[in-house]
Amino acid sequence: MSTRANSMRTLINTESIAIRTRQLAEEISRDYEGRVPVLVGLLKGSVYFLSDLIRYMSCEHEVDFISISSYGSSTESSGIVRMLKDLERDVSGRDLIIVEDIIDSGISLDYICRNLASRNIRSLRICTLLDKRDRREREVDVHYVGFIIPNEFVVGFGLDFAERFRHLSEIAVMESEDLENISE
Ligand code: IMP
Ligand code: MG
Repeated sequence: MSTRANSMRTLINTESIAIRTRQLAEEISRDYEGRVPVLVGLLKGSVYFLSDLIRYMSCEHEVDFISISSYGSSTESSGIVRMLKDLERDVSGRDLIIVEDIIDSGISLDYICRNLASRNIRSLRICTLLDKRDRREREVDVHYVGFIIPNEFVVGFGLDFAERFRHLSEIAVMESEDLENISE
């Protein structure tokens, strides 16, 4: 079983995540009142955030998922993106909200936004729990942001390092010694 490594430190605690998630859900519900947006979760990291977000949402919505892979090391994406699983429904004419766990270089979301924008949709917004803004290589227009965080590798609340630590209820920083010591 994965447990938290000793040197990990808390960046955002469980309560802060819950408070901010609720605020975002209320904001989205107000913005989309009377419409039925499709929340598009990016597998797998966003599932934890998405499931909390929709619990607090008061506007009607649908949920669908996309899975992409971006080749590279476990802490950095390579820039080569491939779609592994597409949406199940036709989304033409719909309002889409991409729900993501973290935006780093922006390469994944840049790819997904271009892909979705070509489907004759009505509107597209992005909602991310975390934004590592300093690392951006591609510009992405992010509408709903939980927390802007510094350039550090984080795990927990759905975010993984080589599939580990998603289960942590808080967002924790992995120090470089952890990244070296924990085998992939
Ligand atoms: P981007 O294409 O560089 O923006 O990468 C975004 C994806 O990289 C996220 O959806 C995560 O899967 C992963 N990622 C980026 N930074 C972190 C991090 O600090 N911890 C865990 N995963 C991360
Ligand atoms: Mg992800």
